[in-house]
This record gives sequence, structure tokens and C-alpha cells, in this order.
Amino acid sequence: MSLDRPSPTTPPAAGARARTATRTHGFTESVIREMTRLCTIAGGVNLAQGFPDFPCPRELKDAAIAAIEGDVNQYAVTWGAKGFRDALVRKHEAFYGLAFDPEREVTVTCGSTEAMIATLLALVNPGEEVIVFEPFYENYGPDAILSGAVPRFVRLREPDWSFDPDELAAAFNDRTRAIVVNTPNNPTGKVFSREELGAIAALCQKHDVVCVTDEIYEHMVYDGLEHVPMATLPGMRDRTVTISGLSKTYSVTGWRVGTVLAPPDLTLAIRKVHDFLTVGAPAPLQEAGVAALSLERAYYERLAADYDVRRRYLVPALEEAGFRAFLPHGAYYVMTDITAFGFDDDTAFARWLVSEIGVAAVPGSSFYSDPAAGRNRLRFHFARRRPTLEAAVERLARVKGRAKAGAAGA
Ligand SMILES: Cc1ncc(COP(=O)(O)O)c(C=O)c1O
Repeated sequence: MSLDRPSPTTPPAAGARARTATRTHGFTESVIREMTRLCTIAGGVNLAQGFPDFPCPRELKDAAIAAIEGDVNQYAVTWGAKGFRDALVRKHEAFYGLAFDPEREVTVTCGSTEAMIATLLALVNPGEEVIVFEPFYENYGPDAILSGAVPRFVRLREPDWSFDPDELAAAFNDRTRAIVVNTPNNPTGKVFSREELGAIAALCQKHDVVCVTDEIYEHMVYDGLEHVPMATLPGMRDRTVTISGLSKTYSVTGWRVGTVLAPPDLTLAIRKVHDFLTVGAPAPLQEAGVAALSLERAYYERLAADYDVRRRYLVPALEEAGFRAFLPHGAYYVMTDITAFGFDDDTAFARWLVSEIGVAAVPGSSFYSDPAAGRNRLRFHFARRRPTLEAAVERLARVKGRAKAGAAGA
């Protein structure tokens, strides 16, 4: 079947373009969504877009149904239902020993996606700079454009995705307003160490910069490592915006419930933006979120252990298939090097992989400001049931024999 259909988000023809705002013109279709679409057409196994294909916990479903039946169907308080904010604060304190005021320091958003854009809109004036580590989660680029922030990228270098402290220090200047830190990290699986966070914290304090952390994968950490929230570091409690949400920890990416913990002055600004962007997050699902946030610790241990089993299955299989895999220590992604396959273009390789082999992954270039830096990279995710991963692995076993021919034809 032809994969050359125009995408639903192909930019409009010249005449139509004048009807749309300039800020939208630089956006391309999310490559992840493109791969998902191609995967559906090809009937492949989707290891591109990172969401689970297994159900969320029973307790959450029951609580959501009960909330809707119980008529929790109107707007919640704009910055979040009280019960949910209270439960979030309780859980955060239990896990990280850090107390927040649910009345003045918590905002509940439509996913951590809204949390990030609302935070940047609230904190950064157009033309001011935001430091972003790359490879980065692909939403951060458009987030910067929408908020008018100028992103300054600092490279994480494989195999351990460490950064050069001098390069980081050089990225800070008078115009720097914020730095975005995503740990555990998408797409690399890096878990920032306490020392690395300490180096970032020192620079934030030296330059009076706010640290915005995306901790959506906080409960997926392996190999005995620990997730360290930036806000727990000395001096950082009042200069950190901590973003997380229900999507990944409770396997409910479609619920769209995200959270922001921040000191009162920052929260006030974030709440204003949030109010005008969305009014509020889904009321019944915040109610159900109380059940989620009240789950026993064993739930989180099991979640990480189950993901670890998937990781230990997929990573060696990728290596067996000829990929060089960079072992992730957190989140549910694995970055690979595809040099061995002879393609000189990651997107061409990803298209070939989905159409000829039947496995969708994300071209590495979509995670870099300079696409050339990701040309020999491909990202897979492993938030899949075992049979789905087995189907992917079975297909991937065919890559070795066919990649050279594919490269010649590409
Ligand atoms: C690093 C990161 N942040 C945020 C999100 C989106 O999370 P949410 O569903 O809470 O908007 C994702 C989803 O893949 C992600 O990888």
C-alpha cells in the first residue's frame, strides 16, 4: 500500500497560508504522529508514540465511573479540585519529603503538556531565553515558539547522555529566564544524578533562573537508581516548577490530568494562564485521580518492575537485530544508533522500517534542534504488553538481512 498520502496536517497551499498566524508556520506535523499514521496504514507494531497498550488500574476506572455517576460533571475549581490537590501534596510529601501548600502552590492542568506551555507563558517574556537539553521531548520546541522564548540547547552526549558543565555554564546569560530539565528523560532514558542536578541548581542560583522540571516519568527508574526531584535540592524549593501528571504513572494518557507544584508567586501567574487557556482539567478524572494518588507504594514498585522486564526484553532484541542501543535507566524509551544499516537518513530508515518490516519508531532528528545531529538515531518505546513486544521483536529479526537492500533503494 502506498504510504505517500498527504498528511492531514500538511501545510496549506500558498493562498491559504495567509489566513493563518505566522507562529504556526514553523510547526511541522509531529513525526511521532506521522509514524503512528504510517504504522496504521502498514498494519505494523507501533513502538513510536509512547503510550501503554495495557489497561489502567481497576481502582481508577471504578473511581472515574463513580465520579461521573455521582454528578461530578461540572467545572472543577480552575486550579484543581481540592481533594485532588490535597492528595497530590500528601503523596509528594510521602515520596520526597517536600511539603507544598495545596491552596497556593498547586495547579492542576490538562496534562503535563498544558502545564509546560502554561508555565513558559507565565514565566518568560518574548525574547528571553530558556535552556533546553537536547535531544529533547519534541513538544518543547513548539512550546518555546508559542511562548516567544528563545531556546538555547545544551547537548546530552551518549553513551551516558552526560552534559559538559562548561557548555551548560556558557548557555546561561542575562536573558536566561528558565531551564527545562526532564528527568527521567524522554527520549534518552537518562536519569539525572544528584550531582548533575546540583550543577544545574548552582547555575540557577548564580543567575537567578527558574528550573522547570518535567518529572512525568518519576516512577520509572531502573538499575537501583533513584529519581531526585530538583525541588529537593538545597536552595531550589522556591525556584523550581515541578511538572508531572497522571498519564504515565497510572497509564491514563487520555485523561489529560497534569500537575504543577511551584512557589506561590509563580503559581499565581501559572494559574492565570491556565485559567484562560483551559479553565480547568476534567473534573471527574481529578476525582478519580484521588484514588490514583492514594494507591499503595507496592503499586509503584510493581510499575517500575514491570517496565524493567519490558526494557530487559526489548533492548537486547534490538541489539540482536543490529541496532546499537543506549541502555535507558528510566522512562520507557530506548535511543539507538542505526549506523550499521547503511541508511544516511533516519527518517528514510524509519519509513522503511515501518513499511517493509512493520515496526514504527521515531527518527532521531525529531529530538534535535539541528536535525543532522539525530541522523543516525532512532527511538523505540516499550510501553507495550509482552505479546506486542514479541510481535515487534519477531519483525525486527528481519532487519539485518534486508536493511542493506533498503538502504540501496532509499
Ligand atoms: C517528557 C514528556 N513530558 C510530557 C509528556 C506528555 O504528558 P501528558 O500526557 O501529561 O501531557 C510526554 C509524553 O510523551 C513526555 O514524554
